[in-house]
Amino acid sequence: MRMLYVGLCVLSLCLCDISLQRVSGQSLKSEVAALLVLKASWYDPFNRLSSWNSSSESEITVCDWRGIGCSTANDSIVSLDLSYSSLQGPLLPSIGVLLNLRTLNLAYNQFYGNIPDDLGSLSKLKVLHLRHNLFNGTIPESIFALPSLQYLLLESNSLTESFTSLSKLVAFYGADNQLVGGIPLHIGDLSSLGRLDLKRNHLSGGIPISIGSLTKLTVLELNENELSGWLPPELGRLSNVSVLDLSSNRFNGSIPLELSYMSSLEKLHLQQNNFSGSIDPLLGNLTRLRSLNLSYNNLSGEVPSDGVFAKFSAASFEGNRFLCGRPLNVTCPSPQQVQLVPPPSTVVDGLPSTEGSGKKWKLIVGLLVPSLALALFVAFLIRRFRMKEIGECREKLTSEKSAQMSSSKLEMYTRGFKFSYEEIVSYAGYFDTAHVIGKGRFATVYRSDLPGWTPIAVKVFKNHFSREIFEKEVEGLESVSHFDTLLPLQGYFSSQGEKAIMYDFMPKGNLYDLLHQDPHANTKLDWSLRIKIAVAIAQALAHLHKGCSIRVLHKDVKSTNILLDDNLSPFLADYGLIGLVSKPVVETPGYMPPELKITRKYTEKTDVYSFGVILMELLTGKKPVSYVNDQQLNLVTWALRLHKDGRGREILCGILLKSCPYVDYPERALNLAVLCLNELPAQRPTMSETVSVLESLSTMSSPMRSSASASEQYKPLLKRVG
Ligand SMILES: *[C@@H]1O[C@H](CO)[C@@H](O)[C@H](O)[C@H]1NC(C)=O
Ligand SMILES: *[C@@H]1O[C@H](CO)[C@@H](O)[C@H](O)[C@H]1NC(C)=O
Ligand SMILES: *[C@@H]1O[C@H](CO)[C@@H](O)[C@H](O)[C@H]1NC(C)=O
Ligand SMILES: *[C@@H]1O[C@H](CO)[C@@H](O)[C@H](O)[C@H]1NC(C)=O
Ligand SMILES: *[C@@H]1O[C@H](CO)[C@@H](O)[C@H](O)[C@H]1NC(C)=O
Ligand SMILES: *[C@@H]1O[C@H](CO)[C@@H](O)[C@H](O)[C@H]1NC(C)=O
Ligand SMILES: *[C@@H]1O[C@H](CO)[C@@H](O)[C@H](O)[C@H]1NC(C)=O
Ligand SMILES: *[C@@H]1O[C@H](CO)[C@@H](O)[C@H](O)[C@H]1NC(C)=O
Ligand SMILES: *[C@@H]1O[C@H](CO)[C@@H](O)[C@H](O)[C@H]1NC(C)=O
Ligand SMILES: *[C@@H]1O[C@H](CO)[C@@H](O)[C@H](O)[C@H]1NC(C)=O
Repeated sequence: MRMLYVGLCVLSLCLCDISLQRVSGQSLKSEVAALLVLKASWYDPFNRLSSWNSSSESEITVCDWRGIGCSTANDSIVSLDLSYSSLQGPLLPSIGVLLNLRTLNLAYNQFYGNIPDDLGSLSKLKVLHLRHNLFNGTIPESIFALPSLQYLLLESNSLTESFTSLSKLVAFYGADNQLVGGIPLHIGDLSSLGRLDLKRNHLSGGIPISIGSLTKLTVLELNENELSGWLPPELGRLSNVSVLDLSSNRFNGSIPLELSYMSSLEKLHLQQNNFSGSIDPLLGNLTRLRSLNLSYNNLSGEVPSDGVFAKFSAASFEGNRFLCGRPLNVTCPSPQQVQLVPPPSTVVDGLPSTEGSGKKWKLIVGLLVPSLALALFVAFLIRRFRMKEIGECREKLTSEKSAQMSSSKLEMYTRGFKFSYEEIVSYAGYFDTAHVIGKGRFATVYRSDLPGWTPIAVKVFKNHFSREIFEKEVEGLESVSHFDTLLPLQGYFSSQGEKAIMYDFMPKGNLYDLLHQDPHANTKLDWSLRIKIAVAIAQALAHLHKGCSIRVLHKDVKSTNILLDDNLSPFLADYGLIGLVSKPVVETPGYMPPELKITRKYTEKTDVYSFGVILMELLTGKKPVSYVNDQQLNLVTWALRLHKDGRGREILCGILLKSCPYVDYPERALNLAVLCLNELPAQRPTMSETVSVLESLSTMSSPMRSSASASEQYKPLLKRVG
């Protein structure tokens, strides 16, 4: 039995279903043969595939081979993940035999040669991830015909391709290849497409009008290609796009004012093109914009100062010889001197741009649905009104600007910090996906690599809450954050539209990933490290609960909120934040005590229960919630049941029993976890009691001394854990 669980922990499958281990026998014969053919064709310098062997005496089934995932229902192979395995070689057509694959991940290896046409047989494939390899040749047509494919990640290979057709993709990552040809005219048919990343290829031609139909699109990156022509005003229909990067292409004409309808835009990069005409003040309506770059075009006229434009400096506009205005420190000629606006005799003439875009205007009005045309007409009236106001605006400029300044606040507690928030954002790649280190329901965390400074983590909140409440809460949290095992708060940023908290960046990620996703968790995480983590987190919670200045309930204790530094020293993060972002109780599956459903009220004992779940994760190596066959399996339910049946020792991760010098300590820790998970809040120990017991189990101190040093009041608890 013990062997069984060691096996489970090694694979970090963390599933409770023992039947998973069933040996399948005949049905997989052809798959096994195909895998062995593949293995034989690869050079495997680190012997990563040593478990792939066909020795019939071996107890190990193909489902236990490294990188193989099987369906629990019938042992068919549903995933193959060999990413980061330093493998070299071609991908042979035998891959097409694995007919049940849903995920094929070979990313970050050195596979070379063609992508085999035979992948087209994998009709259940949802994810094809071949990023960072040496594949060359064309992307086989058969891939685009795969009926279930949702994610196609091919970046950083040497693929060439003339676009023909694509299928029902959710995301297409094709950056850093040699793709040539135009964007297909009917790209708008890909109605599920959320993300199109084709940067750094050799695409040419224009952006088709049908792009306006991709209403689910959130990221469109076509930068560093050879695209040309006007931007279609239909882009304005993409109200969910947050990143639009068209920089370093050959686009010309004016920047369509319709871009101001792209209300989710956070990053707009149009630099290094050939855009001309003026910058429409309506773009100031893009209130979410935090990165704007219009540099190195041929734009002219005044840089608008309204709305979001107040945020941006000369660096967003440089290299446009005919631009003037505040950020560039170039005074514009007065409106009388230069006829920015031609006489307003017709709608066409009303547009302050080149003759070319005037023609376009007529065309747009012809094409657009009436409601949009009406909106444009309203926009036109607003613009006229603004133009008339120019004289007054200029006087108001300075006072408006200073109001803008005071409307945001960057408060840093770290000594010697010399960067602005704009710099923090820019060194986080303008919050691009490559810098995302964490994504939650209420915030996204980015890594900002400030030059000459240790990287910091920036947690940007999605909700809108008042500045007063935010600043007050964060200052309160700062006052309690001075504790060894709480994640240090570096500071915060607060403005009407955006709130963010800055933390130390933790290079080793979070405990959940370390325990459940890292294939080496088993060897890295021995008893002494696990108990060290448990003690540290218990101490942090006890500190919050007993609090020096204010008492703080964490309210969201979970293993993803435990971060690890280079030495794998743990820090508790996100304390007290749930209360800030959500008034109603928020349930994290697997971590919430049963009473919360009824009381809807957090108490200290909520945190104690959640801590009990973490302790259970540390002791069993299993996820708090896992899914087998679409059925949710709950770690607590399972562990408590076996513990109750006197089978507690069986659920402990094998490494604990091997690495703990005191034979009964792991079981005592388990007993403590069980107490923390008591159904009745009153029966659960307090955090400081928990700390005391855990400290006594920590192998750093001898068992004799630590029990003796535990104060009298904890004796009963010590007795209960055995
Ligand atoms: C096959 O795997 C078993 C168990 O992992 C191992 O003992 C044996 O040496 C392996 N055989 C080969 C040829 O790699
Ligand atoms: C195995 O189960 C999956 C569903 O999990 C199903 O799609 C597949 O067809 C089954 N294969 C066999 C051989 O029964
Ligand atoms: C792909 O790379 C291989 C060497 O790895 C080379 O022999 C072959 O000609 C290349 N094919 C194409 C289409 O570039
Ligand atoms: C796109 O945005 C609209 C609101 O502008 C929203 O109703 C819709 O759900 C979004 N669609 C997706 C796929 O996010
Ligand atoms: C920009 O447009 C001008 C005039 O139309 C042209 O001479 C120039 O080559 C263009 N530049 C680029 C980078 O396309
Ligand atoms: C834009 O570029 C195209 C060629 O790509 C050219 O035909 C057109 O005249 C240019 N328009 C302007 C306004 O420069
Ligand atoms: C711009 O913003 C103003 C104020 O929020 C709003 O009234 C107006 O309709 C917006 N215009 C466009 C084109 O979105
Ligand atoms: C840039 O725009 C100005 C007018 O605003 C025009 O005279 C000039 O020819 C343009 N230059 C290029 C390279 O297109
Ligand atoms: C905009 O792009 C130009 C050219 O790539 C670059 O020099 C400049 O620093 C960028 N500005 C900002 C604000 O990123
Ligand atoms: C703007 O110009 C004024 C006067 O010419 C000068 O004093 C100031 O330093 C300039 N500011 C910037 C940012 O260039």
